[in-house]
Amino acid sequence: MSPRPWLRLVLAVSLDGRLAPPSGGAAQLGGRGDRQVLEEALAWADGCLIGASTLRQHGSTCLIHRPELLEGRLHNGRSPQPIAVVVSRCGQFDPFLPFFDQPLERWLLQAGPPPASAAHDGFSRLLRLEAWRESLEALKQLGIERLVLLGGAQLAAALLAEQLVDELQLTVCPVLLGGTHGWLPWAAVIPPQDWDLLEHRPLGEGELLLRYGRVRHQDRQ
Ligand SMILES: NC(=O)c1ccc[n+]([C@@H]2O[C@H](COP(=O)([O-])OP(=O)(O)OC[C@H]3O[C@@H](n4cnc5c(N)ncnc54)[C@H](OP(=O)(O)O)[C@@H]3O)[C@@H](O)[C@H]2O)c1
Repeated sequence: MSPRPWLRLVLAVSLDGRLAPPSGGAAQLGGRGDRQVLEEALAWADGCLIGASTLRQHGSTCLIHRPELLEGRLHNGRSPQPIAVVVSRCGQFDPFLPFFDQPLERWLLQAGPPPASAAHDGFSRLLRLEAWRESLEALKQLGIERLVLLGGAQLAAALLAEQLVDELQLTVCPVLLGGTHGWLPWAAVIPPQDWDLLEHRPLGEGELLLRYGRVRHQDRQ
């Protein structure tokens, strides 16, 4: 059994591989079909990793709303929502973000020296991010076996660079956005990785779900 949680990157991307409009901010890319598969991924997960910029720009995170998904989690003795694990270096957040009123558990995974207390900032647990592999192992020891990575691009690049993403779940949306906000930063340095197509299906309204699993070569796990 792996010492790390299974990590699935979940993103909605444009036909030209962007996840935000040229001006940045929230693209509101996914339609109803994307919302369904996003909620299903959240229902599968014990926790979600969220980049600090994504949280600052969106103000809140995605919640499971579908009653059957919520009931399924409760039936299995799980919390209604996965734990939101926010990743940051500076640890600075507007305490009035709607995120801090959302009905879920909030943890902060922070690189560099930790502040004295995260409780007053609305986080119930503060974890130190030194090396990704060890931090993921620490999350697993705290009970997170299935982790959804909700972006953004910088955070996705950091984890892909260390070959720690096990699965990619992309909703390709029928729009071209242009600009520089690719789902990976242009300058991202990522070692070559091969992916197996696990699933592909139309989601309606011109959207296509693509799910890939990382091929585990013996020399680069
Ligand atoms: N279409 C989609 O599905 C989707 C999903 C998510 C996001 N987005 C879009 O993506 C954009 C935001 O993405 P982004 O790439 O600019 O930012 P991001 O990855 O969300 O967040 C970057 C921030 O996260 C923290 N961080 C990232 N990697 C880290 C690491 N290795 N160690 C420690 N901290 C780390 C830092 O926080 P601090 O600044 O606190 O130090 C960094 O400034 C927004 O426009 C959003 O709308 C789209």
